Amino acid sequence: MTDIRPLPHIMKTKPYVPGGKLAGAKGPVVMLASNENPFGPNPLAIEAMREAAASVHVYPDPTYGALRGAIARAMGITDANRIVVSSGSDEIIHLLTQCYAGPGDEILQTEHAFSMYAVSATAHGAACISAPETDLTAGANAILACISERTRILFLANPNNPTGTMMSVDALTALQDALPPHVLFVIDGAYGEYVGPHYEAAIRDLVDRRANTVMMRTFSKIHGLAAVRLGWAYLPQEIAETFQRIRGPFNVNSLAVAAGIASISDPAFIQMSREHNTLWRAKMTDALNAMGLATPGSEANFVLPDFGSAERAAAANDFLKARDILVRAVGGYGLPTRLRISVGSAEDNEAVLAALRDFTASR
Ligand SMILES: Cc1ncc(COP(=O)(O)O)c(C=O)c1O
Repeated sequence: MTDIRPLPHIMKTKPYVPGGKLAGAKGPVVMLASNENPFGPNPLAIEAMREAAASVHVYPDPTYGALRGAIARAMGITDANRIVVSSGSDEIIHLLTQCYAGPGDEILQTEHAFSMYAVSATAHGAACISAPETDLTAGANAILACISERTRILFLANPNNPTGTMMSVDALTALQDALPPHVLFVIDGAYGEYVGPHYEAAIRDLVDRRANTVMMRTFSKIHGLAAVRLGWAYLPQEIAETFQRIRGPFNVNSLAVAAGIASISDPAFIQMSREHNTLWRAKMTDALNAMGLATPGSEANFVLPDFGSAERAAAANDFLKARDILVRAVGGYGLPTRLRISVGSAEDNEAVLAALRDFTASR
């Protein structure tokens, strides 16, 4: 026995539930639970990591200038000093929360938001408030109605995970204009590449438009680099400086740096991945709707069919697991009647659709 006790809000924090692995699988598992790129990493990134491996006895450059420069060039950002890099974009969520919110403060998100915002809010002692969505989509009026004097950060994934829906750039701009000056607007563009370069440029420009807005991004999705843990953000100068005060001096490892530079400098791989996703997302949405599983239009790399009841969604999940197919239950996101299915390889997509055809034919 000791008298060592964690802070009370740490004990209130419910840990993030990851997509996980399938226990007891009979053969290769069809992994459609974590929105990963079915093509794997860019071969140029693999080569760059091989080369960088020989030098991992040396600490990385703590300024991350080469990586930030490569991101700036690829994204048309003129001031690379306003880019910060991180160990996955989860770290950005935590560090921004740590900088700007604490006990007595509020973090605002929307009803079916990515769960790390709530994890981070609670872990830092802040309350997490959820604005209602309409038809699984965030809206400016509902968000603004939840702003209080205590609101410190608005986290909005656009497109959102797990719904796949998004607010238009016009709606984001109107929301940005209407936010009171004490609220930091964090646009999480984890799935921005799946919408396309015009959208990526539009959210970049929102950061330049007002000193209250941050864009965060990840290398875990379209870049196929989830395991190296690499994220970044583009921020107003003052917020970038605040962030730099508390990030670990070597928070990104050298393999991630090498992979990130190679990957973000090769638009062809990103375009190929996006085109595959657009094609298969439409095919999967149509096929699921044809099975009677209402599937809203998604702008990301996953779809969200509705099985009509929580029991039927759970039965479908078990049915898929029995065929070594792993998708994501989203009851924890307030969506118990649905499953989230990532867009995978053509073969894996066919496999999950065939299994669900069998499932819906039988019950
Ligand atoms: C909306 C959103 N933001 C952030 C993340 C975190 O990504 P990472 O920490 O791998 O960069 C995810 C991961 O699924 C996500 O869906």
